[in-house]
Amino acid sequence: MVDTVGPTSPAQPGVTVEDVLTTFPELRDIADDDLRRSVVDIWLEVLAESGWDSIADVPKHPYEVPASVKLVEHTRSTTQMAVAVAEVAERVQGAPYDRDLLIAAANLHDVSKLMEFEPSEEGGRASRFGRLVQHGVYGAHKMWEKGLPLELVHNVIVHTETSRYAPQTWEAVVVHAVDALDSRALDLLHGGVPAVTKD
Ligand SMILES: [Fe+2]
Repeated sequence: MVDTVGPTSPAQPGVTVEDVLTTFPELRDIADDDLRRSVVDIWLEVLAESGWDSIADVPKHPYEVPASVKLVEHTRSTTQMAVAVAEVAERVQGAPYDRDLLIAAANLHDVSKLMEFEPSEEGGRASRFGRLVQHGVYGAHKMWEKGLPLELVHNVIVHTETSRYAPQTWEAVVVHAVDALDSRALDLLHGGVPAVTKD
């Protein structure tokens, strides 16, 4: 079991490791304690660096779907879809996958949105950071900073259509695909047109 907020977790006051695990129950399925703790710490650190008081307030994408559509549900859906797809491909096609890396990548693929968006009266808008730094880069930076596997950094970098590189690992292919799938489901649910820029 992971412990509470420690010296490596300069969290928002009152936000704990347990809070992140409650927000993202899928993280409890990461078997490697150190990896799970690093993923949680990245959420806590990026939250503290961002303009948001709570992860639950962050919109999925305020220019593509209503700001009432939140990042937490998109992240959870993407993570659960990723595991489901990988399980089917393994069972039917024999395609192996690394469950810990898949969950970590799917969970962190959009953590950079805490920096790319900032609170506003409308529920969220692009920040200066978000206008200057390409989507996904900050999440990859945080993973690299923690010494997480290069495959995880790759997965987060290439999850977005704005990446000039295509996914090179099966886990990255899956996250890229199910992220787009959940995004298109939300577009349709909320009556949106196909996004001009992908996320
Ligand atoms: Fe996403």
